[in-house]
Amino acid sequence: MATQTVIITGGATGLGYAIAEVFLQNQANVVLNGRTFSKLETAAHKLNQPDRLSLVAGDITDPTFAPKLVDRTLSRFGRVDVLVNNAGIFAAKPFTEYSIGELDQYLNYVRGTFALTQAAVKQMRVQGDGGAIVNIGTILTFHADRSIPASAPIMAKAAITAMAKNLSFELANDKIRIDTIAPGIVPTPLHGELTPETLNDLDRQHPLGRVGTPKDIADAVFYLANASWVTGVILPVDGGVAAGGHGFNNRQQAA
Ligand SMILES: NC(=O)c1ccc[n+]([C@@H]2O[C@H](COP(=O)([O-])OP(=O)(O)OC[C@H]3O[C@@H](n4cnc5c(N)ncnc54)[C@H](OP(=O)(O)O)[C@@H]3O)[C@@H](O)[C@H]2O)c1
Repeated sequence: MATQTVIITGGATGLGYAIAEVFLQNQANVVLNGRTFSKLETAAHKLNQPDRLSLVAGDITDPTFAPKLVDRTLSRFGRVDVLVNNAGIFAAKPFTEYSIGELDQYLNYVRGTFALTQAAVKQMRVQGDGGAIVNIGTILTFHADRSIPASAPIMAKAAITAMAKNLSFELANDKIRIDTIAPGIVPTPLHGELTPETLNDLDRQHPLGRVGTPKDIADAVFYLANASWVTGVILPVDGGVAAGGHGFNNRQQAA
């Protein structure tokens, strides 16, 4: 397989970091993005692959950053084969407590993902030999959880998930594939410190009896990035939450 060049947004921590690790283990060139350069440097130190790793700090919610990120990738590695739209933020709270300003913050991730996907697609079309885009959505888009009220962030995730479905047909002629992973709960810095009780509770909400690991998600991203006959799918990687159609085990209801 030719060396792939992969852009991973939000790659300094959590899922993005694990995704970078899996691609580097598979000999890819990786461009790691995040807003905080010191966090990217810490990640790069741990990943320890300076020849195949490039760090590009910047805020993906700024649409003018998208072409810059692609240009920086081209100047270092000469092409873009895979884009992983991973950067995101999340804060659960009741519907009536979200402000419009907070909703806008989440929707800015939609704007940024739109701009970056456009920039990557333009470059993939110039290259002429296809490409892959993998979005990180969430299973909460399809299965609500009484203990995780999250209407505002879910609106943003639903938008990028729908964009991928729609684009999959439009980009198929160019052999550019676009898919979405819908993770269950994976402890990462996004969730802050989880107490053992909370963790135990979250474990029990997943039919397979545990929360996910970043590597569970990263392996699925790598699969989709290389699955040449797959496009437009929404792949739950969620410990079985989606399997029964009932979603999370909402204990409050059962009690
Ligand atoms: N963990 C879960 O349970 C879970 C479940 C479903 C979906 N997800 C999704 O998975 C993705 C990764 O989350 P995670 O759990 O790995 O969280 P995380 O550890 O907080 O990682 C998110 C990364 O994104 C970066 N980031 C945030 N906003 C950014 C922006 N505007 N521009 C560029 N980088 C940005 C952050 O670094 P800086 O702050 O330095 O920019 C951070 O390194 C998110 O989209 C999240 O919604 C997570």
